[in-house]
Amino acid sequence: MKKTVLAFSRITPPMIERLQQDFEVIVPDPKKGDLAAQFDEALPHAHGLIGAGRKLGREQLAAATRLQAVSSVSVGYDNYDVAYFNERGLLLTNTPDVLTESTADLGFALIMSSARRVAELDAWTKAGQWKASVAAPQFGSDVHGKTLGIIGMGNIGAAIARRGRLGFNMPVLYSGNSRKPALEQELGAQFRSLEQLLAEADFVVLVVPLSDKTRHLISHRELSLMKPGAFLINIARGPVVDEAALVQALRNGTIRGAGLDVYEQEPLAQSPLFQLPNAVTLPHIGSATTQTREAMAERAMDNLTAALRGERPRDLVNPQAFKG
Ligand code: DGY
Repeated sequence: MKKTVLAFSRITPPMIERLQQDFEVIVPDPKKGDLAAQFDEALPHAHGLIGAGRKLGREQLAAATRLQAVSSVSVGYDNYDVAYFNERGLLLTNTPDVLTESTADLGFALIMSSARRVAELDAWTKAGQWKASVAAPQFGSDVHGKTLGIIGMGNIGAAIARRGRLGFNMPVLYSGNSRKPALEQELGAQFRSLEQLLAEADFVVLVVPLSDKTRHLISHRELSLMKPGAFLINIARGPVVDEAALVQALRNGTIRGAGLDVYEQEPLAQSPLFQLPNAVTLPHIGSATTQTREAMAERAMDNLTAALRGERPRDLVNPQAFKG
């Protein structure tokens, strides 16, 4: 008998057809009513889950008595209670690598957009405000040659550092848990403590995973250490930044601007950030290109298929749970 897969997001109809070759596939359908209710109804039947954007832990998975594996269509796995997965022997997989370059592109787009005020001046132009040559009130800040500070030099951090160093002649600083000698050699990147990096960088880019250690890593004290002309870019996870502290810092000029793709609450329909011209606000689109989301879903399907066949999936987050 085929195993059952509950595909709750990020899986398109052709991908569902592919999964159907090996599995019974349940896909919550907005036309059939409440998605959450359909998810709950399907959960006790599911051997595997695939999707992203859902908190899954003890409470949410209590009824999932047949569950063997969860395949997240994301690189970040802060939505999952890994300790609980280990306790139950549930496999958890993610999708590293395939989104590195697209997410780095978006990080750089936020650097450019916040420094050169791209989104703000686009709205200004379309509002019919361009009645004479632009002057100081519309001027932005340079990007080329400025100091780029990366907090969390993993694959995505390194891809942003390459763009900055090789494309924009930016000196690169980084902080994190470990030194990266190869990147120091390749890009001349220099390691700094968090405090030193905040004090020196013109663009501070957050690329750390969310954990107890990184929650509110950037709050009032850290923002006050940044240069008044500096920009904070967050493509990591919203709770890495104390958003109330950031709003205050943007309002009172503690820093020049922010480029944000992630927030403490998502989705976000209302926020004081939306009133601030010096905040560029995107709806968590780091990996959201057609090609990359397709590649992520393919990788997630491969991981799930392997897990449900009893094989070791390529991107296993919790090897402790694998009893192969
Ligand atoms: C990820 O993969 O973790 C990105 O944030 C997209 O969800």
